Amino acid sequence: MKKIEEEMKKVEGLALVGELAAGVAHEIRNPLASISGSIEMLKEMNGNKEFSSRLMDIIIAEVERLNQLVNDFLLFARPKRANYVEIDLSELISETLELFKNSPYWSHKIELKTHLAAPLPIYSDPEQLKQVIWNLLLNACQEIDGGGTLEVSTRIEEAMDNSVPNALIQIRDSGNGFPEENLPKIFTPFFTTKEDGSGLGLAIAKRIVDGLGGSITAENHPQGGAMITILLPYHPHQ
Ligand SMILES: Nc1ncnc2c1ncn2[C@@H]1O[C@H](COP(=O)(O)OP(=O)(O)OP(=O)(O)O)[C@@H](O)[C@H]1O
Ligand SMILES: [Mg+2]
Repeated sequence: MKKIEEEMKKVEGLALVGELAAGVAHEIRNPLASISGSIEMLKEMNGNKEFSSRLMDIIIAEVERLNQLVNDFLLFARPKRANYVEIDLSELISETLELFKNSPYWSHKIELKTHLAAPLPIYSDPEQLKQVIWNLLLNACQEIDGGGTLEVSTRIEEAMDNSVPNALIQIRDSGNGFPEENLPKIFTPFFTTKEDGSGLGLAIAKRIVDGLGGSITAENHPQGGAMITILLPYHPHQ
């Protein structure tokens, strides 16, 4: 029985590798086609400086996209070992929000509401958590960049079964939420509904949160919009 189980795991693993490889191949093909198309055109054009400079911009942007894809993929496929230190989760979220508000992804049409329990000391990896929060903020803001509300909350969540409490992070936006049929797929690598998305943001987030001993779930809020909930082990001291 044990042997069969092990064999099954191997085959499942291979199937997953196959799916991932297919995903990477698919993602790489579009920018490559666009790069070779642009170079083809550059070759045929003599002189028109404005047009050739536009083509070269396309090539640079597509190379950048490939680079980002490879970075994201490695982050997913080979997550770094967690580096645990004592941190204040609410402070870490405030810092990440500050960074995000100064990034090109922020829009002044977004209204930010925060409900941060302070202090919220936990023992975790701050760099990995920042990456998770960033990916979630990015998704939320892509949903509502034409205007809407972004709500970020933290609190201590007592466990129902008398076990240790959790530190909770919730990120909610006032966008369209997830179509029900997509909910089972959104954490799968390369699942995307965006034209220029790679579908790795949530897969990376889940990989990291699982690795930190937590859980991440997605749902539609009863009053509309997407809501992501992360639970992390709450132990203020090791
Ligand atoms: N806040 C949200 N509201 C509505 N749909 C969302 C939200 N966040 C994620 N999704 C859905 O889940 C899909 C997967 O999200 P994920 O972050 O993994 O990939 P992506 O945003 O499409 O691409 P990437 O993050 O790699 O640029 C999205 O394409 C979108 O359909
Ligand atoms: Mg994303």
